Parts: sequence; structure tokens; C-alpha cells
Amino acid sequence: MPEDPIALLQAGAARHAEGALAEAERLYRQVLKRRPQEPNAHNLLGVLARQRGDVAGALRHTERALAAAPEEPVFLANRGAALAEAGRLAEAVIALRAALVRRPGDAVALRNLGQALAALGDPAAALPVLEQAAALQSEAPEPLLALAHARREAGDATGAAEAARAALERAGTRPGLAGQARFLLAGLGAAPAPDRAPAAYVRGLFDQFAPRFEAELTGRLAYRTPALLAALLPAAGIAPQRRLRVLDLGCGTGLSGAALAPFARRLEGLDLSSRMLAEARRRGLYDALHEADLLDWLPRQAAGFDLVAAADVLNYLGDLAPALAGIAAALAPGGHALFSVEAQGEAGEGAPFTLGEALRYRHDPAHVAALATAAGLVPVARQAAVLRQERGAPVAGALFLLRCG
Ligand SMILES: C[S@@+](CC[C@H](N)C(=O)[O-])C[C@H]1O[C@@H](n2cnc3c(N)ncnc32)[C@H](O)[C@@H]1O
Repeated sequence: MPEDPIALLQAGAARHAEGALAEAERLYRQVLKRRPQEPNAHNLLGVLARQRGDVAGALRHTERALAAAPEEPVFLANRGAALAEAGRLAEAVIALRAALVRRPGDAVALRNLGQALAALGDPAAALPVLEQAAALQSEAPEPLLALAHARREAGDATGAAEAARAALERAGTRPGLAGQARFLLAGLGAAPAPDRAPAAYVRGLFDQFAPRFEAELTGRLAYRTPALLAALLPAAGIAPQRRLRVLDLGCGTGLSGAALAPFARRLEGLDLSSRMLAEARRRGLYDALHEADLLDWLPRQAAGFDLVAAADVLNYLGDLAPALAGIAAALAPGGHALFSVEAQGEAGEGAPFTLGEALRYRHDPAHVAALATAAGLVPVARQAAVLRQERGAPVAGALFLLRCG
């Protein structure tokens, strides 16, 4: 084993490139034992922490790398990426811009900057940056997908579809990216809607949204679904007496769990997004949290729950038959299902579901009711409601409470 810090660092970087993260970390830490301030070791440990989803570790190490070398563009770019993942978007923009002044051709920094600007609601600034990122990596699908999303958010459906088609052409054998490009095309009305949103898309969306989710939902978006759903329970004779085994599907950060907790003797949550689950864990409200796709997980549960809830979750699924069958299977006899869907208006007349430009499904409530009956769920209450605001307009929905027959 080499003792020289530079040789150790190079050995670590080689292991890192091969994907041997634990071994790379061990070597970087050996560098720091010999040279505690070594900025390259801190920078690479920051990258490694980000790859593992450890945002706090990424922030700590990138800060230490920059403390030793404040002008180094690679460190600034990695600091920006870590800040963006932590939801500190304004600071991320500053770090990424500083990196790009020193290294203008860094395509990944450009993509991260464009995505941060788009998430800050500034598509006019985001679009030229993402166009530059896509031009620099003209064979890569990722910057084109980011560009397509930003154009969609800016209201340029034609340009978004063009970029999504180009991403699809370049996705090659990478089914995850191809599925995301097809889903985006479907949301733009340029391809048939699939039966569900790709799991990788939902996970990515909520992983990056997690640090900002609660502030945005309860603030600007006036999100009310958990409270509206919970209010259906006492009206149907179910008192908040902490008696039920409750499953919160797509629990997110736990806003829905907080509304359901007064009914729960035991509260379990499930979500696709590890970062949403990390926020939920911090709440200390759940007895168990599961990282899984509800469609995979539910069929494995045998009649274990008295209440299965899904607040603002089923709008990431088109065909609700498998989810409703899974919910019915997970309920004990006499247990209840409680969920919201976004309701489709005139445009979707006749179709069981449509995929909107916001990339969420809207359902025909009458069709949902028929599917629930087919799954063995008996209607108890159904209510039309405004679920939240979007771009200043109300989002219409339907709330369902059903009993397992
Ligand atoms: C809009 S959030 C709602 C979170 C929470 N229920 C609330 O009311 O605040 C939707 C959540 O559903 C999760 N989700 C969507 N589709 C899912 C699936 N198929 N399996 C598990 N979780 C899913 C997302 O990751 C996200 O955290």
C-alpha cells in the first residue's frame, strides 16, 4: 500500500472510477490522516457522499475542499451540485456560476445550473444554459431531457417535444432514460400515455424536491389534501382514537402521516423516494418506513392494515386497477381505503384517465369508483374538492373513502 498521499489519492480515484466506493473512501481517508486539509481528498469524498445520497456529508466535504482552495472550479462545481441537492438553490446558482466563470465548458455544471434556475422558477435564465449544456454533450440524453423539462415548464410544448425526441434517440440501450423521454412526450400529447409514470422519473422528481417540498406545498401551493382526507373519517364514524393499523402510501415527508396519526395505533409509511423518506424519518412519527414501489409492495401484504391511505399519490398512476387491487389485498376485512385523485375536466371526457402537461394523471371519478367496486371496495364517502393551487389556479380533485367488503 503506498504511503505517499498523492499516490493514495490516485489509487482512491481509480477505485472510485471503478465504482468501488467503500475502497475509494478508505483510501481518501488515509490521505486525510496524513494531510488533514488535502482539498482533493475532501472534494472526492464530497462526490462520493453525493453518490451515496449523503447530502450532509457532501456539503461538509465540499466546504472543506473550498476552504483550502476557494478558486478551484471543480470544487466550486461539486459544491454547487451538493447545494442543489440540499435544496439550497440560490447558493447553488452562485457556486455554479463561479465554477463556470473559471471553466466555461463544464457541461455538468451547466446542466446543474440550468436545473437549479428552472427549479427557482426562472426558465428565461435556465433555457440558454441548458441549451449550451446540450450542445456541449450533443450525444448525451440527460441534458436534452433537462432542456425538454425546462421548455415544457416555460410553456414551449413544441420545443420540449423536439428535445425529448432527441433525448429518446440518444437513450439507446438505457431503458430508464428512454422511458422518461417517452413519458414526457406523452405528457405533451405527442405519444400515447403509458399506464403509469416511470418509477425512475417519480423517484428523481421527489428526491430533488424533498428539501423544499413542505415549504412549497404548505405555502405557495396551499396543499390541503391530507386534512381533507382525514376529515372524511370522523364523518363516517371513525374516531381519532389511535386504534388503527394505518399504512400511508406515498407518504412523502409525512404531511399525510401527520393528519392520519390521531387515528393510528401503528403508522407505517411507504415511498419510492429515499430523500422524501429521510424527511419523514426526521419527523419521528412513523413506526416503520419502507422504500418501495407501492405496486410491488402491496401484493405482498396480507390483510394487515385497518386503513390504507394515499394522499396525492395515485395521480402518478394512470391505470388504477392494480393499485386498488393491491390496497384491497392489504386491508383487513372491514378496513378502509382513503385516497385522492385529480379529476379530469371536459378535455378528458370519456377516457378513464389522461396525462396532463404537468406530468400527473387525471382520472374520471366515476371510472375510479367502478374500479374500486371491481376490487371489492364498497363506497362510504366521495367528495369533490380543491386539492391545491397550481400556477395560481385551483387543482380539482375527488376524495374517496371505501370499505373492504
Ligand atoms: C405529492 S407527494 C405526497 C406526499 C404525501 N402523501 C403528502 O400528502 O404530503 C407524492 C409522493 O408519492 C410518492 N409516490 C408516487 N408514486 C409512487 C409509487 N408508485 N410507489 C411509492 N411511492 C410513490 C412520491 O415519491 C412522493 O413522495
